[in-house]
Order: sequence, then structure tokens, then C-alpha cells
Amino acid sequence: MTGRSPKVVVIGSTYVDMAVRCRQIPSSGQSVVGSALSYTATGPGPCQAGQAALCGCEVHLISKVGGDPFAEMARKSLAEFKVNAEYVYAAEAKNTGIVVTLVSGTGENAACFYAGANSAIQGQDIDTAEQVICDADVCLMHGGLPREAIVRAIRCAAVHGTKTILDPARAVESRCIGGQAEGDLPMEFFSVDILIPNLCEAAEITDKSAATIRTAKLIGSELITRGAKCAIITMGRRGCMVVDRNGADHIPSFDVELVDQTGRGDAFAGALAASCAVGDDIRQAVKFASAAGALACTKFGSIESMPSKAEIIQLLQKEGLDVLPNIP
Ligand SMILES: Nc1ncnc2c1ncn2[C@@H]1O[C@H](COP(=O)(O)OP(=O)(O)OP(=O)(O)O)[C@@H](O)[C@H]1O
Ligand SMILES: [Mg+2]
Repeated sequence: MTGRSPKVVVIGSTYVDMAVRCRQIPSSGQSVVGSALSYTATGPGPCQAGQAALCGCEVHLISKVGGDPFAEMARKSLAEFKVNAEYVYAAEAKNTGIVVTLVSGTGENAACFYAGANSAIQGQDIDTAEQVICDADVCLMHGGLPREAIVRAIRCAAVHGTKTILDPARAVESRCIGGQAEGDLPMEFFSVDILIPNLCEAAEITDKSAATIRTAKLIGSELITRGAKCAIITMGRRGCMVVDRNGADHIPSFDVELVDQTGRGDAFAGALAASCAVGDDIRQAVKFASAAGALACTKFGSIESMPSKAEIIQLLQKEGLDVLPNIP
């Protein structure tokens, strides 16, 4: 490891989550009284970028917010996590992506996502940020953004030899509105270095139904045949399957006390990007990322539940894992 900080660029959507606590989630036509309000930046953009920054990387986020006061809240959160927001564009005529969440006294929750400015990110926005993609060791992208932008980023990273990681998750809002599939993924999605779908997403991409841990290996191989250099299929507390030309390996999850699973996928992705940015071996990087995913489940919230580098290393050591990543 040289003295230079590892560099990660994250391309993902940004939301501000307004969470209101109430005794019970109201049903249609009913009103309830709230008892507390909290708001924070969330979404794959801020959470994955925040996690990579917590792991010691220099991080740029490419995203889009609106011309409203929520945009400032998002920028403030990013600054707290030392994420460079130079390429968090402002679409003045739009609203920042918003999540309105109701959390009941018994821990149930209900949420509504409004994508706002996230749906306005374009290929041109990626072109403008070409230099940071060129300078980065890793470009981490989330499939919830418009495909044109993701495809442009994959091409740009390829031109500059920047390692690519793609979480091919669909936009959360498309899952909420009818949950319809968006058709085949663009072929560029399969040209990345590392694809990180969860098991449901991987099954959907490869048209497999009822995916099980046993079929994860098969699905991973199919993703490799389609062009990805490595596929990491995440399966929650069942761990993940790493498939590449060297074979398939199941990496078990860490046993933790479950509090709230929000943010686990983003912690995993951000920590994976950080570990890959320092050139860790992929299976070693996956262990580091799995520890981050597990720790995110031990705290409430999304961005505020991303673990620190010290917490991740402590969990790895507790489990007797002697090989630690090159994270500075
Ligand atoms: N309950 C858990 N206990 C321990 N580790 C977990 C747990 N849930 C997730 N992880 C770790 O985090 C990784 C990513 O989690 P998961 O497969 O649930 O991602 P995801 O479905 O993409 O999540 P998200 O809905 O947040 O995007 C897992 O492979 C695992 O290593
Ligand atoms: Mg996910």
C-alpha cells in the first residue's frame, strides 16, 4: 500500500428519509399522532459512499438532488461522512428524492419513496464527472438509477481501466409500483468486473424461479458466462456465493444480534468497494464486506448504521480471521 488514499467513486440515488414515530401505522382514511421525527440522508448513493469513506477511502458521489431544502440536508450528511459531493448535481426544478417512513411502537414500518431528481440523472452527468471515474480505483454503481447513466458509467470506467462493481438492484420505486420487471438488463451490465445482486435479483436476471442457496452457484456461473468477471450473490444471513473463473465459494455470514436490517446491502457494497480499491483478493474483500453487512444489522437506521473500519476489523478478529485487508 502506498501513501495515496484508495479512491472510490459511487454512483447511486440520494434520498432524504423523514421518519415519524407513531403508536400504530394508520390504515386508509385514519390519522394518527406522531411522537418523534428524525431525518437523514439515505439511499444507495449516500449509504454506500458513507461506508467506503468510513473504511478510509477518498470518496466521490455522483448523484442528483433537487432545488429544495432537502438537498441541503443531504449535502450536510455527506459532508459529515467526508464524502465529496462536487458531482452531486442540483436539478433546480425538481425535488430531492424523499422517503416518508412511519415507524410504529412495535417496530413495524411503512414507507413511501418518491424518486424526484434521482430519475433525472443522465449520461451527460456521467460525462461531466469523467475525471473522477478516471482517477478512482473502483467505480461502484447502483442499478436503481436510469440505465442510460449506468451504461455510460460502465463504458467510461472501462475506457480508463477503473474497476467496476455493479449492484443490479432495481429502482426501489419500480418494486413498489406494481413490482413489474423492467425487461432485460443492458448487455453492458454484464461487462463489469463484479456483479453483486442479492439472490432474488440474481434469480430474476437469469430467469430462475425459487432460487435457493444451492442454485446460487448455478446462477453465479450463468452470470459469468454472460460476461461478468465475478458474481457475488448475497443471501442475507445465509452469507454469499462468490463465483469467478477460479470456482465457486460460499462465504458464511457473521452471527450478530439482529436489530434492524436496513442498510445491510449498502454496507456490504461500500465495504467491498473499499477493500477492492486497495487491491485485496476478492474472497478476502467479501469477508470484510460481510462483516460490514452483518454489523449494519445490529443498529437502527440506514446511513447511521454503517459500521466503522475499526468495528469491522474487530468483528473479523473476534471470528479468528487472521487475514485482514490492506485497508490503510
Ligand atoms: N441478518 C444478517 N446477519 C449477518 N449478516 C447479514 C445479515 N443480513 C445480511 N448480512 C450480510 O450482508 C450481506 C448483504 O445482505 P443481503 O443479501 O441481505 O443484501 P440485500 O438483499 O441486497 O440487502 P438490501 O435490501 O439492504 O439491499 C450478506 O451477504 C451477509 O454477508
Ligand atoms: Mg441490495
